[in-house]
Amino acid sequence: MKPNPGGQLAPQDIVGRDALIQDLKDVLEQQSVLLVAERRVGKTHVLEKFKTMAPAGWVIIKRDLESVRSGREFVECTMADLYPHLETKTNLRNWLQNLGEQAGGAQFGPIKLPNFTHRPWKQVLYEAIDHLHQNPDIERLIFLWDELPWMLQGIAKTNPTEAMELLDTLRTLRQQGGNKLRMVFTGSLGLHHIIRTLKTQGYANAPINDMQLVEVKPLSTADAQGLVQRLLTDSQLQVEHPDLYARTAQAVDCMPYYIHHVAAALVRTHRGRSEKLDWAAVSATIAQSIQAPHDPWNLQHYEERTQEYYGTQRPQSLALLDALASSAEPLSITDTIKRARGTHLDVEPREWQDLIRLLQRDHYLVRDDGGNLAFKFGVVKRWWVWHRGLPNPAQGRQA
Ligand SMILES: Nc1ncnc2c1ncn2[C@@H]1O[C@H](COP(=O)(O)OP(=O)(O)OP(=O)(O)O)[C@@H](O)[C@H]1O
Ligand SMILES: [Mg+2]
Repeated sequence: MKPNPGGQLAPQDIVGRDALIQDLKDVLEQQSVLLVAERRVGKTHVLEKFKTMAPAGWVIIKRDLESVRSGREFVECTMADLYPHLETKTNLRNWLQNLGEQAGGAQFGPIKLPNFTHRPWKQVLYEAIDHLHQNPDIERLIFLWDELPWMLQGIAKTNPTEAMELLDTLRTLRQQGGNKLRMVFTGSLGLHHIIRTLKTQGYANAPINDMQLVEVKPLSTADAQGLVQRLLTDSQLQVEHPDLYARTAQAVDCMPYYIHHVAAALVRTHRGRSEKLDWAAVSATIAQSIQAPHDPWNLQHYEERTQEYYGTQRPQSLALLDALASSAEPLSITDTIKRARGTHLDVEPREWQDLIRLLQRDHYLVRDDGGNLAFKFGVVKRWWVWHRGLPNPAQGRQA
């Protein structure tokens, strides 16, 4: 296996995730799923692996919706995806032919859809899904919709009503689809932010409260260690001591994206050299990657998105993150707020608490068993300290 940070991996190179995929199967027996995680944790690859491990009789349709910009376009994609599964066993083909003009319809690979602009897209979607029930060979149809929040955000920018209608339509379909239809929504943008924005524009529904939330966490320690070992060994990099695999995995929070990055950087700097890799070389590579001005690990995003996520509350959210980044130990909620208050004396305690909850939901923070708060990911904390020029809490502890 070659390092491939951010690229698309072959199925045999997607390590671990077996327990999560089993969980997903169990939940999908009962209901649809909202698959959440911090960005770059590996959501898309979980979907890819799930596709290869689904039970016989389940039809899995995976589609990246990032570039879809209207309800109609969404329905066209969905119809093109459904077509191969419904074509032979149902009267979908006849229905499509009666739906509209062939001329001017969208082309999806070999499938030419009719032009159905004269029919409401919702109606077309309901009718298309109806055909599912005519095919007795399909026990269950699962849509894996990646980057659905991006699509909704894109639609909502020009047409918030259509974004609301789409969310409601999907909910209705889940209700009507019975046991035969399930959906998995995921994406790098939190769906709760999109729904929150829609609520400020008059939306009053709870469009995903029938879905089970499942979190994609970093790899297990053993899988992360194994990935480090495999990437270094396959690139002919020898290590001075085998504990380097575990130390590397731990230093990057067992995140496969960073593991691929570290391996790629080490291959660039060390391949062909006679000396074996030691921890000093690896930890220097990690530090340089976190601090590099060209931001190879895309960490800048953690600050940039606070503008969109927290709007007018952004200064307070940065103050909370600064307070926790500067502390070597987890802090109680009261102490975190006390340290963050600084120049924000007029902010009410409830507002601080709401923000803290949101920062947990957005994967910046976690609470430990004692209720204390800390950064969820060590790499993000290290970058935050570096980027914001905060005192390094790790050095304070050593002193
Ligand atoms: N199970 C895995 N085994 C090995 N490498 C992985 C695995 N999952 C993810 N990766 C690595 O991490 C990168 C990011 O993974 P992926 O694109 O699945 O993340 P994501 O959570 O979908 O990201 P985004 O939030 O940007 O959509 C991959 O390109 C690959 O380098
Ligand atoms: Mg993804």
